[in-house]
Amino acid sequence: MATGMFITLEGVEGSGKTTQAALVADLLRAAGRRVSVTHEPGGTRAGEAIRAIFLDPAIRLDVAAELLLVLADRAQHVREKLRPAVAAGEIVISDRYCDSTVAYQGHGRGFDLKLLADLNRLASDGMRPDLTFVLDCPAEIGLERSRARRGAAAGAPDRFEGERLDFHRRVRDGFLAVARAEPDRVIVIDSTAPRAAVTARMVAEITARMVP
Ligand code: TYD
Repeated sequence: MATGMFITLEGVEGSGKTTQAALVADLLRAAGRRVSVTHEPGGTRAGEAIRAIFLDPAIRLDVAAELLLVLADRAQHVREKLRPAVAAGEIVISDRYCDSTVAYQGHGRGFDLKLLADLNRLASDGMRPDLTFVLDCPAEIGLERSRARRGAAAGAPDRFEGERLDFHRRVRDGFLAVARAEPDRVIVIDSTAPRAAVTARMVAEITARMVP
């Protein structure tokens, strides 16, 4: 049985994570690997219920409640889905994971980074990604993309899309700080590059790390 692998995709709003997760998964499947794609918040039944509260701008949430909700989501996701899938030999791609909490709740909201490391360890049960891609682009470009997408769907901005530009700039800097601190795990990719080039780079990096 192939050895499982846990890959996470991180980045600001509109950085193209969701599209790239699907494209990368298709290519890996075509190469004969079993791949599942999941996301946070969400990914489990409990997680989707948490996500609905977490993103709804009409529901007032204290920032501490926001933090604990996303951690509760992660605790369920790891135990119900991520760990069993990797143990079964799958390549699991998660659209967001612990680094999003560091970037959004830490660099964005201002929670202490040491506290977040402890809470992330609890929520994730110590499950760390084998590889993380930060799809990086300037916050204004990402926001513009996600607002255009939102506009097409005629929906209201969610809790985070409605945040000011300086919040999203801090979030971007947060992801880049994580990448600098953990260069062996985290690869930063310029997501303003052509889509196919981003996909190809990701597949190459994953393939290079695969245990045959
Ligand atoms: P989503 O619709 O999945 O957006 P995106 O396509 O940008 O991933 O919304 C997820 C939002 O939740 C996103 O704005 C980031 C936020 N978030 C946090 O603030 N902390 C976290 O730990 C996670 C996982 C997500």
